[in-house]
Amino acid sequence: MHTPRYSLTTLAAAVLMTACGGGDKSASTPAADTTAAAPAAPAAADTAPAATVASASTANGEEIYGRCMACHQATGAGMPGAFPPLAGSEWVTGPSSRPIAILLHGLQGEITVKGEKYNSAMMAYGTSVPMSDDEVAAVLTYVRSSFGNSAPPVTPAEVAKVRAATASRTTPMTQKDLEALQ
Ligand code: HEC
Repeated sequence: MHTPRYSLTTLAAAVLMTACGGGDKSASTPAADTTAAAPAAPAAADTAPAATVASASTANGEEIYGRCMACHQATGAGMPGAFPPLAGSEWVTGPSSRPIAILLHGLQGEITVKGEKYNSAMMAYGTSVPMSDDEVAAVLTYVRSSFGNSAPPVTPAEVAKVRAATASRTTPMTQKDLEALQ
């Protein structure tokens, strides 16, 4: 008796098991699909082939910051003891690879921001919650030039570079990991 209320994945697995019958003549194993990488972002359909100067992001960073606001607040000041500030944060204004990696992979564990220790977790935006290179660049450019910050913009190319360099990563960043980036 089957209970047909499971996900497609479960179903597919069941079908597979039935098909293979336990033997090892698994000639056609369609199991290994689910491309974890490159979900062919249809959202970022810019198709901008024109080689603009270091191509700045075209997304609206201020608007995307709306996704960060609940925790880091409209002012970027965060919430003492809970959410670290982006205003004046050395992680925000330092090497761009660091905040990029935070958005792509999330952050976990103890981190010191402006002399205060936080020990919590932030989810990733680049993988579980898809955010294109352009969007990551835009929101970081906004954050790096707002709340009194004045660090250089982040380009989609920089994001793509960090994304590629850290593609095999499956766990959130830690302060130590961030420090290793430059
Ligand atoms: C659900 C709450 C939440 C949201 C939403 C969120 N963050 Fe965070 N963020 C955190 C927490 C918590 C930490 C600290 C994690 C730790 O203690 O390891 C953090 C850390 C950071 C840091 C490093 C520390 C610092 O203060 O500079 C950056 C940069 C950052 N977040 C940027 C962002 C950006 C940009 C967004 C939006 C795209 C965002 N965060 C959305 C909760 C959040």
